Amino acid sequence: MTNTSSLIIAIDGPSASGKGTVARRLAAHLGFAYLDTGLLYRAVGLGVLRAGEGLDDPAAAARAAGRLDPASVLTLGDDPDIRSDTASVAASKVAAVPEVRAFLLKFQQDFGAKPPGGKKGAVLDGRDIGTVIAPQAPVKIYVTASTATRADRRYRELQDRGENVTEAAVLADLQARDARDSNRATAPARPADDAIMLDTTNMTADEAFAQALAVVQGKLPHLR
Ligand code: DC
Repeated sequence: MTNTSSLIIAIDGPSASGKGTVARRLAAHLGFAYLDTGLLYRAVGLGVLRAGEGLDDPAAAARAAGRLDPASVLTLGDDPDIRSDTASVAASKVAAVPEVRAFLLKFQQDFGAKPPGGKKGAVLDGRDIGTVIAPQAPVKIYVTASTATRADRRYRELQDRGENVTEAAVLADLQARDARDSNRATAPARPADDAIMLDTTNMTADEAFAQALAVVQGKLPHLR
């Protein structure tokens, strides 16, 4: 039976805004389940590439979404390629396909309604959690940072992964993804009207987490 009293915290924002760190730390602090919904789109994008099909083929993307095994979704992060630049570009392309989004919608909503491990709530991070997946979420935070800061963070992350990239290429890539994610017709990335904005440009990860926790506790004072 669906646990309709599960609390959902929606964390949205563009890539390298710091939303993943904020969301993960909030979930750990509150004892909530955590879902990085970008991993779902990344897995679909990699699925298309691994099938030798084209990222511009919506039917191939829909087929790759259909092959995702809900039981393995919690371990998608273990795939060594899932955080690669190739996977993020592929994700952003397949994420524009309405059939892909429709396929992933139910999984995300089920996760929020019935968090694994019997947890009392779930933190979901993505682009459309507050607007489409969980518009009823009592807490919505939209995490942003300047484009230059995000590109710098992403560049360092890719360097740490040993990827051979230039800062200029990372910036161009990020801008192309931002444009694709915010201009697509289905569930474009944007803050919900009732989202609280959190700009992490000049914040450390600790500061961003502290501010996000203060937002959560402001909305849900019983959470510590
Ligand atoms: O958060 P991320 O960088 O891992 O996301 C990868 C891509 O997936 C991103 O460019 C847009 C897409 N995405 C989406 O459209 N909706 C979500 N809820 C999460 C990610």
